[in-house]
Amino acid sequence: MKKLLERFYDVLASIYIYNEYTGYKELENLLAAICEKYPQEKEFIAAVEKHTDDERVHYRMFRDYFEKAGKMPFTVTATYGYIDLFIKIIFRKPIEDLDKVEILNNDHLFYKLCRLIMMTEFRGMKQVDQLLANPLIKKNQALVKIFKIIKRDEPSHCYPYQYWLEKRKHHLPGFQEKFTDLWIHYSILLIKFPILFLNFRLGRMSDFYA
Ligand SMILES: [Fe+2]
Ligand SMILES: [Fe+2]
Repeated sequence: MKKLLERFYDVLASIYIYNEYTGYKELENLLAAICEKYPQEKEFIAAVEKHTDDERVHYRMFRDYFEKAGKMPFTVTATYGYIDLFIKIIFRKPIEDLDKVEILNNDHLFYKLCRLIMMTEFRGMKQVDQLLANPLIKKNQALVKIFKIIKRDEPSHCYPYQYWLEKRKHHLPGFQEKFTDLWIHYSILLIKFPILFLNFRLGRMSDFYA
């Protein structure tokens, strides 16, 4: 039983570390593109910078978690990446093919990306509340500590994008985005998480992402 519980924590933390890593890496690219296109938008740049730094810290917390336990994360692919899936459905291309400069040069695409980041953060907030209320998570103080920090940081992450959209009187996330969010969330939770958990041949990474 103890082994299964450990496995549950490891699978969960492996999905998180993948998502935090993808999150800060993609934000780094986006930030560079924003600085180039809108150098005068100091406040917006500072907010996106803070967001990128937070996600990097989140990544680092999960890395520490594994390092302290003397283990490596399970090998998790883009199929478990919330943002990867969201981008694939909304932009119809894989995240690595998403050209940030092209997006910034097209208002319509940039609004779309802002809404997508907002939805990701909304989902993150709900997710972390559910995890902190989960009796299995409550037994793991190291994870509780990490999720409490994420809970503290998450709300501020939506604001820059919300501000950007509202300033330009552009609508906030609509039905299609909300539906996509629910679909991705439940497919990870109810289908993909159990598949990872039950795949006893699932390997561990040989190196950390960064
Ligand atoms: Fe995060
Ligand atoms: Fe976040």
